[in-house]
Amino acid sequence: MLMTDLIAKKRDGGELSTEEIKYMIEGYVRGEIADYQMSAMCMAILFRGMSDQETLDLTMAMMHSGEVVDLSAIEGVKADKHSTGGVGDKTSLILCPMVAACGLRIAKMSGRGLGHTGGTLDKLESFPGYNISIGEKRFIENVNRCGIALIGQTADIVPADKKLYALRDVTGTVPSIPLIVSSIMSKKLASGADVIVLDVKCGSGAFMKTEEDARELARGLTRIGRLAGKKCAAVITDMDQPLGRAVGNALEVKEAISVLKGETKGDLLELCLTLGSCMLTEAGFCPDIESAREKLLATIESGAALDKLAELVEAQDGDKRAVYDTSLLPMAPVQLEAVSEVSGFLSHIECEKVGLISMHLGGGRATKESEIDLSVGLVLHKKVGDRVEQGESLGTIHATTREKAEEAARLLRACCTFSDEPVERPAFIKAIIR
Ligand code: URA
Repeated sequence: MLMTDLIAKKRDGGELSTEEIKYMIEGYVRGEIADYQMSAMCMAILFRGMSDQETLDLTMAMMHSGEVVDLSAIEGVKADKHSTGGVGDKTSLILCPMVAACGLRIAKMSGRGLGHTGGTLDKLESFPGYNISIGEKRFIENVNRCGIALIGQTADIVPADKKLYALRDVTGTVPSIPLIVSSIMSKKLASGADVIVLDVKCGSGAFMKTEEDARELARGLTRIGRLAGKKCAAVITDMDQPLGRAVGNALEVKEAISVLKGETKGDLLELCLTLGSCMLTEAGFCPDIESAREKLLATIESGAALDKLAELVEAQDGDKRAVYDTSLLPMAPVQLEAVSEVSGFLSHIECEKVGLISMHLGGGRATKESEIDLSVGLVLHKKVGDRVEQGESLGTIHATTREKAEEAARLLRACCTFSDEPVERPAFIKAIIR
């Protein structure tokens, strides 16, 4: 088999066989297929697309390029969730304890944040002492005992994606649905869960800018998940403005705790109920979405979900008192209100730029090696559709110095657009793909 023949076949619209895809991925990971040939293949795939069978073959070949996590020692149904990434996305901190309190098993490996989006691991490390590297043995024991464990990636899963994604990033071949689907699903399938629920974000702060693209991606992801034998659903959600109100690690943890206490409602709770009810119904725990929502809401009313978060934190060496007393979480020395200079209806927030404000305050990473400050970020007081009067606060900036806070306040004002006419609040949940 020759890679040049495979490139020409895809260039001319042909369908690659299972063996050809396996040959290509194995050869690329071993360094026998050059980057320039793989770039040409990615470009051919971008223009010609792939059939479901090809996308499935690519996903499986990538999955088998590294370790596949074996969760068989965990009793019960194991569930996982994936988000395509957004600003202020603290969903896992709420959703995972809620569904674990309903009896589903959460054995989750999460990532750190990069650029304008945050990562669950950084948020969890806001709990003093929280250990993301407890090792595989404790990971399995904790899930069997508490029903939940959230750690950093241990196994060397999907090395093919690390190499391929870096190549796509510099060759203009990221926005190809089959390449995105195989990249995401190879990692999810290698993580071993039975039920996978995907939160596909769409809008200015997301990877998929239009609803149409997000729908196509969601359909591709769920199709491949099901063809690989998993229970799979996707929810398409708005990322034209940050999710909830807080952006920044410890600030997002505080907001998540307030949702788990039943004190905060709105888009964030709605998303957790939607994703959670997909998980419970796909797992066969509830007959329909309505009964699943009630079961999930009951975990908030009874305090069971909050207690489950505390159990998780304690089981991973963290200080669980911070779950019940958030003054024990990291707190920035300076708080400043970003005061609006105009009156009107808030019509647009530049979502990605809000994520970057938090990053520049020190709350996010410009590169993988950057150190971050867990205490900084911002809390929005206004969302799209809200009336704002001149002199009212658009949000509170949490910073290490007054100068940084003032600069962030100026940038936040610049992210907001106002209208004289009332503005309709955008629909938050755009579709559920099952
Ligand atoms: N996220 C991934 O993990 N892979 C892609 O290709 C795009 C987004």
